[in-house]
Amino acid sequence: MTIALGSDNGGYQLKEFIKEFLAQKGIAVKDCGTYSLERVDYPVYAKAVCGAVTGGECEMGILCCGTGIGMSMAANKIPGIRAAVCADWFSAKMTREHNDANVLCLGARVTGDEAALTLVDVFINTPFSDEERHAKRVAQIMELD
Ligand code: RB5
Repeated sequence: MTIALGSDNGGYQLKEFIKEFLAQKGIAVKDCGTYSLERVDYPVYAKAVCGAVTGGECEMGILCCGTGIGMSMAANKIPGIRAAVCADWFSAKMTREHNDANVLCLGARVTGDEAALTLVDVFINTPFSDEERHAKRVAQIMELD
């Protein structure tokens, strides 16, 4: 599995922390930037990460900004992306099981570094439910693209 990672300046340090965490777990990462604390625009990085996911290069994406909200808004504009901004473990798990989310958005100013790692861990390790009702609803979401 390869995970696409991206952030703006507000999420840069959290992205780096997650990158190290995934590296320690032996999970391949495509770092789509940003690469410093210089002020940048989050939609640029949402587009890069989501392109890596929809293009098939990466199975999932993780986007970090100050709140996670701007990243999720930008990501969900991209056909094929189901991005969820999560600040708690249960939501990170359920958005995989029920929504088949393929991008996790995190708020560096909302969620502490260590807590964010637990969200990343549960997100990447929770499979989509096989239940027909969830598959039907995910298909309905995708028809909105
Ligand atoms: C940048 O200041 C901030 O707006 C951004 O990181 C994010 O929180 C947007 O949703």
